Amino acid sequence: MTWWRDAVCYEIYPRSFADSDGDGTGDLPGITRHLDHVRDLGADAIWITPCYPSPLADGGYDIEDHTAVADDLGTLQDFTALTVRAHTMGLKVIVDVVPNHSSDTHPWFREALAAGPGSAARERYLFRAGRGPQGAAPPNDWESAFGGPAWTRVPDGEWYLHLHAPEQPDFDWRDAQVRAEFSRVLRFWLDQGVDGFRIDVAHALFKAEGLPDAGPGQHQDPARNHLMPYYDQEELHPLYREWRSLLDSHPAPAGAVAPRERVLVAEAAVFEPARLARYVRADEMQQAFNFAFLEAPWRAPELRRVIDESLAATAAVDAPVTWVMSSHDAARPPTRLGGELRAASAALLMLALPGAVYLYQGEELGLPQAHIPDDRIRDPLWRRSDGRDRGRDGARVPIPWSGDQPPYGFTTAAHEACWLPQPEGWSRFTVAAQGEDPDSMLSLYRRALRLRREHPVAAHGTLHWHSPADASYLAFSRAELTCVVNLGSEALHLDGLGLLGQPVLASTVLPERGTLPVDACVWLSTATDGEDRRTARP
Ligand code: NOJ
Ligand code: MG
Repeated sequence: MTWWRDAVCYEIYPRSFADSDGDGTGDLPGITRHLDHVRDLGADAIWITPCYPSPLADGGYDIEDHTAVADDLGTLQDFTALTVRAHTMGLKVIVDVVPNHSSDTHPWFREALAAGPGSAARERYLFRAGRGPQGAAPPNDWESAFGGPAWTRVPDGEWYLHLHAPEQPDFDWRDAQVRAEFSRVLRFWLDQGVDGFRIDVAHALFKAEGLPDAGPGQHQDPARNHLMPYYDQEELHPLYREWRSLLDSHPAPAGAVAPRERVLVAEAAVFEPARLARYVRADEMQQAFNFAFLEAPWRAPELRRVIDESLAATAAVDAPVTWVMSSHDAARPPTRLGGELRAASAALLMLALPGAVYLYQGEELGLPQAHIPDDRIRDPLWRRSDGRDRGRDGARVPIPWSGDQPPYGFTTAAHEACWLPQPEGWSRFTVAAQGEDPDSMLSLYRRALRLRREHPVAAHGTLHWHSPADASYLAFSRAELTCVVNLGSEALHLDGLGLLGQPVLASTVLPERGTLPVDACVWLSTATDGEDRRTARP
């Protein structure tokens, strides 16, 4: 029943996964065709980021119609075919729901603009009069997550709130129609056979009554999110309880193989572990991304603190931690952490921890952050920051599947026709090249996921630390598996530290038995006599 507690879910960014129709944009049939890659990797589920009609002011997170498929991605039939195929392969399907805001092209927002101040149509969004002479100043001091004020003025003089781009007006979650609409959206996708929902900016839906100023300070400093009047409000929790009971009670679609527990996963940028744990209380969501792990620097004490605090906070509500080190919003791990070896080691560390894991397409290939030429950048962050922030497109480049040059099997279109350009020099990163190389990142991920399944590591065994709290390495055991990561500046001698066991997997070829190089990670088993190629070379 509780398949999600230790599941590995693979995030798919549809426009960049695989293109089936040669228009240079990935699409749903492209995903269906390449699902064997996800199955062979050993994942349990996929999460598909928004595939709904959208003018793409924010990569599809600006939605015009929540219960349809975008033309460039396919049709609802394509979605059904994808889901059926995934289920046949034993993969669950999670879709994105974006309840905080719509696109400014959503029929409700158009209606609100046309209807004018004081109209019922404006009550679904957050329209307010401005402050100061002629109401020329925004209604309060809130800032957009993409930079600049969170308010835009419309020609009749009112302002509307958008915590993200101006093309993403925020709904008023105290409005009954908004609430009813999202129950309809959830039911619609449950009827299409999905197994769960990833809830976008799940910490932002309700704004404090009266929309008070946030006051001076860093409004978009994640560490302060729970203090902001637009984040982490108490009213969120009754809503998530309502959604959980909707998921638990909604009948399985006709023809469903077996009743499955359907899940809600919170994308809540709440960095205080105890605050985040409130989203995964028994009758609320099942999972919440652990961004504290993603944000942690490559230093043993900080990582250990994040791991301990996260485990303690979720244990208190009997939920798993949902680990993540990569997404369409974050810089690619090899670039962020300082090299491929660290990225491989961070992955082995994450996959040895108790709980669920989300991987992001291309992470298993070790893709670095790509440089996108100025004139090709799509991310609204680029414009909103006056070119100071290149944004997230470098992590959204189309997947290299095969071949020696762009578009590396992603599309039959010319490279120039790809919606985002791939860099030169990625031939060594392709799925085809790495699949044949036992020492590739892809092979490492495949073996790690297989071991997670086969080895007690996937059970919710508690974690026992061997390394001292202030050490420059991390070493812990769960049941018969010991994970050691060397974050220091010198090789580690495992025997001397009493870290015994048979190496079953390592992030690099180990130079000699019992020695763990700088930045490397090894899994040691005290139970199995299996030996991994990477560790076997003296
Ligand atoms: C989080 C999404 O992951 C991100 O891509 C998007 O820009 C914001 N939410 C706004 O929807
Ligand atoms: Mg296409």
